Amino acid sequence: MNNNWQRKHILSLEDFTVAEYDMVLSTALSFRSVLQSKTKKVPALQGQVVANLFFEPSTRTRSSFELAAKRLSADVLNFSPGTSSLTKGETIMDTVTTYWSMGANIMVIRHSGAGVPLNIASQLDKLNSGVSVFNAGDGMHQHPSQGLLDLFTICCCLDADNPRISLLEGKKIAIVGDILHSRVARSNIYSLLAGGAEVHLAAPPTLLPMLFKETVNSKYQERLFVHWELKPALEEADFVMTLRLQKERMSEYLLPSLREYHQLFGITHDRLKWCKPGVKVLHPGPVNRGVEISSELMDDANYSLIGEQVTNGVAVRMALLYLIGNYKG
Ligand code: CP
Repeated sequence: MNNNWQRKHILSLEDFTVAEYDMVLSTALSFRSVLQSKTKKVPALQGQVVANLFFEPSTRTRSSFELAAKRLSADVLNFSPGTSSLTKGETIMDTVTTYWSMGANIMVIRHSGAGVPLNIASQLDKLNSGVSVFNAGDGMHQHPSQGLLDLFTICCCLDADNPRISLLEGKKIAIVGDILHSRVARSNIYSLLAGGAEVHLAAPPTLLPMLFKETVNSKYQERLFVHWELKPALEEADFVMTLRLQKERMSEYLLPSLREYHQLFGITHDRLKWCKPGVKVLHPGPVNRGVEISSELMDDANYSLIGEQVTNGVAVRMALLYLIGNYKG
């Protein structure tokens, strides 16, 4: 397996290279085989400690990182803010250094504040800790492991035996929903554009400001499109990614009603008739059934890749932990 990985922390996909994407995809493919084998486990990170520091709720990402670390034979420490010494006034950085003192080698961090994992990584570097930090979702900023498992899922759909980022060349991918508040959209935009896809964003103007495009710092801007209607985004699309309305990040009322939102932007079997035959639908979860996607479509295995995304999440996170766990600096 490839161990020529040059990145200590994984905080954003903004500056990921094509070579890095391909290294993650090929490593994840190997770990998917491990997960399909009888033992499901390898000793790749034996003796290493992975600390899951989730300061914000999570089901998929946290459990997936935990399982991935265990499948690599690492020791795993889980942390929940509500039952931790944060409730007694301990600071986040003192919490982090406590885990470092216990021997954590990799810290997987989720926080509602954009930039918190970056800040922790910088402080740990100043302490020469040797700890790698993985951003498991920071506010509205980035969610790199979700972007990479989405990429792996799409590329496996296009070539199950040899997923590679160049398979995206010329594909049309629609991202529909609460783009404004979505760290998943921000990560996916970078990976999909880097692979040569056309990315079409669709949402009401309150969830997709005209200037959003200017905030994307990509050399591939000419393949990024913004729509305030669904149809132009979905027409001839190869893949459709739907996003949850992130009510926890909305400081004001941005939509007249959920019913109207579903009528205008909800993804249904009927709406998929605008897309290419064979179109597939993704959703990072958690899903609000009947809002951003109809319940029937979510459960329709002919279209929905949602279950595969979750399954692939373990293999992709094994790949990421393996790569940064073997980073030599
Ligand atoms: N997709 C995702 O991040 O889900 P969780 O919030 O359940 O981790």
